[in-house]
Amino acid sequence: MSDTFTMDSPQPRLLDQTGQGVIGTPMNRPDGPRKVSGQACYTADAVTEGVAHGVLVRSTISRGRVTGMDLASVMSIDGVIDVITDPRMIRNPAQGMAGEAPVQPGDAVHYHGQPIALVVAESFEAARDAAQRLTVHYETEEASVTPEGTSASETDDPETAGDFDAAWQAAEVKVDLNFTTPSQAAAAMEPHAAIAEWKDNSVTVHSSLQMIRFNKKELADTLGIDPSQVRILAPFVGGGFGSKLGLGPEAVAAAIASQRLGRPVRVVMTRQNVFDCVLRRSETAQRVRLGATQDGRITAISHDDTVSNLDGEGFSEPVSQASQFLYGADGLSFTQTVARIAATPAGSVRAPGEAVGMLGLEAAMDELAERLGMDPVELRLKNLPDKHPMDGREYSTRRLADCLREGAENFGWAQRGAAGMRREGDWMIGMGMASAARSSMLVKSASRVRLTGDRAVVETDMTDIGTGTYAILAQITAEMLGLSPERVEVRLGDSDLPGASGSGGSFGANSAGSSTFLAARKIRRRIADLLGCAEDDLTLQGGRARGLNRDMALADLVQEELEAEATIKAGKTAESHFSSGFGAHFAEVAVNEWTGEVRVRRMLSVMSMGRILNEKTARSQALGGMIWGIGAALTEEMQNDQRDGHVVTRDLANYHVPSHADVPGDMQVLFLEERDDWANPIQTKGIGELGISGAGAAVLNAIAHATGHRVYDFPALPDRVI
Ligand code: MOS
Repeated sequence: MSDTFTMDSPQPRLLDQTGQGVIGTPMNRPDGPRKVSGQACYTADAVTEGVAHGVLVRSTISRGRVTGMDLASVMSIDGVIDVITDPRMIRNPAQGMAGEAPVQPGDAVHYHGQPIALVVAESFEAARDAAQRLTVHYETEEASVTPEGTSASETDDPETAGDFDAAWQAAEVKVDLNFTTPSQAAAAMEPHAAIAEWKDNSVTVHSSLQMIRFNKKELADTLGIDPSQVRILAPFVGGGFGSKLGLGPEAVAAAIASQRLGRPVRVVMTRQNVFDCVLRRSETAQRVRLGATQDGRITAISHDDTVSNLDGEGFSEPVSQASQFLYGADGLSFTQTVARIAATPAGSVRAPGEAVGMLGLEAAMDELAERLGMDPVELRLKNLPDKHPMDGREYSTRRLADCLREGAENFGWAQRGAAGMRREGDWMIGMGMASAARSSMLVKSASRVRLTGDRAVVETDMTDIGTGTYAILAQITAEMLGLSPERVEVRLGDSDLPGASGSGGSFGANSAGSSTFLAARKIRRRIADLLGCAEDDLTLQGGRARGLNRDMALADLVQEELEAEATIKAGKTAESHFSSGFGAHFAEVAVNEWTGEVRVRRMLSVMSMGRILNEKTARSQALGGMIWGIGAALTEEMQNDQRDGHVVTRDLANYHVPSHADVPGDMQVLFLEERDDWANPIQTKGIGELGISGAGAAVLNAIAHATGHRVYDFPALPDRVI
């Protein structure tokens, strides 16, 4: 039985008392050797006897309806088995998020590249050939493919606190700036893939997904079957970044085709497919207004934005999220407009909101500091509010001031000097900084822990999307049960196991970590019973259990398996306290005065993100985010054809993520540890998305400092820099 624990009050810091010495250490991933030796089984590696290969056929119009397909022309191709046009495969809004059916039956086309059919063949090559040759007939409709070109848009009522207009009127110093950021791709290393197989009215789907508890329900809803008839397997996921939060068209198509053909069907997207029809991050147009007194107290903050999505989609990039809690003011106002366009659906991409909103906000802060003649670090230190400016909640913990000071100290910020003054030959050198912030959550999650002797097993349908879940759940369990981590086996990514939060929104470690902690805690109590002592008198270390007057090896004490399951969910602490990771990014760049080329020379980020469960995987997360920040600042831009909206940058040659040569060797991360008692019983905060939040702004601000000239349109390509 799984008890549900609701996070209503701060919990004891048990992980600081257990003393096994495993928690927080930079332990290597237990799954690492399997991954680097090619033995980890990713979706497309799952070997299934008699598998057929499916390739998605994608729309070549931007809006309209499919009226017919010339099937005869491709059915004669050697090896082609079927062309499937089930209406459940044709995607209508809204895209699946957290348990809704991602695909409503229909025949409508909403954007260029939308999946409309699946060709199934004996080989991938035959299926691809047929998919390319298939002639599709459409009824076309006019469609706007850019936010500028559309007349269909919705503007929300402003979210406000205090009186922004009055504060803005009265402000002594003002900046009123417009920024744009382009669409971005999640560009996970592993392309989206699914293999489906039916047996006795139930379907098993291997698919590369982040949140399989939700994905299972999405698939059941789409197929019109009961969730108990669906099993999803995702033991290894090669990155997600939001693009695998919801069930994808490849999984739906594979399930339908497999049922129809009575054999397993594999659908592996090509890289181009992924860019065409897996969600993108919306482009944004942002207007940031900051008003302040002469001495640098911010009095007015407004951050208005326009983003885009398909008509009917529920998601909109929450651009102003960080602007609502980072700095205080007498008046704050935030208004969002969603432009309805015919383009690849927009969804969550790593740190939705903060990742792009902080590019505008933190660049505007830099310009305000300049206008005030104030140091940018000082401006931020002067404007940290006592409470959440919008809803009055307390901050659970916030070491932003420490991060800013430590960062400035360690980076040599004092040597920065005036803008446009430092040169090395043809290169202009500049330093910039920005705050980092990313709100942190606890999502309902369950885990089971079993212990026999001194061997433990953790079971949950949680995923490891490259973040280190296998490592941290082993560490939590080992720490709680006094075991070395090699004695803990972690089983993930199977929807038949207890349902976890999944990986998303930086809540995975908080949530699945907490449910695993609680299940292990129950096992501790059972061990105390076996030993005949109170839980408080129990010490579990080095594979031994010690009570007041007994000391036994677990191998002797726990002869029959102990099993415990626990569920955690958010409660009252989330209502009274606002939890967020905070940090400060510092960057030094060199800008070539003739070509406008920007080289990032070094970066330092100081972060406080609750308890660090594993110093190595946490650092990797932070570095990955900072590197994406470099990409956002300098190169990343998804481009769509202005006529029909089709994606032009459809691979990693055209869509420029930072390569090794773009990333300096000198990338430093410092953690200022803290315990977030209000967040969860393991006192953690989300880590995955803090690194990217604000990072690009530090680079942009460094460019402005180097050249004396600010760029307002991301990315800062050479022609914009000079
Ligand atoms: Mo994240 S963008 O919620 O995977």
